[in-house]
Amino acid sequence: MITSDLEKRTAAQAAVQEVRDGMIVGLGTGSTAAFAIAALGQRCREGLAIRAVATSQRTEAAARAEGISIIDFADVAAIDLCIDGVDEIDPDLRAIKGAGGALLREKIVAQAARRMVAICGGGKQVPKLGRGPLPIEVLPFAHTFVAARIADLGGAPVLRIGENGAPYRTDQDNVVLDCGLPQAGGIGAFVMELQHVAGVLGHGYFPDEIDALYVGQVDDVMRIERSGTE
Ligand code: A5P
Repeated sequence: MITSDLEKRTAAQAAVQEVRDGMIVGLGTGSTAAFAIAALGQRCREGLAIRAVATSQRTEAAARAEGISIIDFADVAAIDLCIDGVDEIDPDLRAIKGAGGALLREKIVAQAARRMVAICGGGKQVPKLGRGPLPIEVLPFAHTFVAARIADLGGAPVLRIGENGAPYRTDQDNVVLDCGLPQAGGIGAFVMELQHVAGVLGHGYFPDEIDALYVGQVDDVMRIERSGTE
């Protein structure tokens, strides 16, 4: 296994130790979350009794393959614990997510969670957000209009293209604009403006949802709580 995968697996396995009998668990999307799903599946086979909600169709398929009981989030108002990866995360546990395209469901499930833990290898830690683009989920009907408005706000939106060469579609059949952040004003001010643009359905900035971060190393893990380092 390559080093980055070892780091992801170490973080995921540590985070999954937070899961307790009876919990409803939110399962994130992406390669790091996949390690958490595998570790949780192992714990379920050893007798852990939980139910889970999935943030994407591929996560649901992976969880079912592991024998994890999946319930429909449409019937759920709150969950106990969400475990998910990040694209980048700063020292205050503010993060950007959505490179995998599941940002809208990930944000909803994160906000429904009493506790959210992020998992990653050290390469995802940044001193300041904005190394990569901010994914923005957009109603297809509105994507040209939304891109123009975002450009007016100083952002640099690029329509995400899928492997088939056509615009990428989310599980909700929406499109994604991967947006370079404005030079001035900061990400918080930018997303406040985005809320006023009709057609924007969600964005991948997670300012305060993440309660703790597990950073995997090859054979160790560091846990950082929002209130301080442990
Ligand atoms: C999915 O939409 C994303 O938010 C992922 O959680 C994020 O991109 C991290 O993915 P990896 O664990 O694959 O790096």
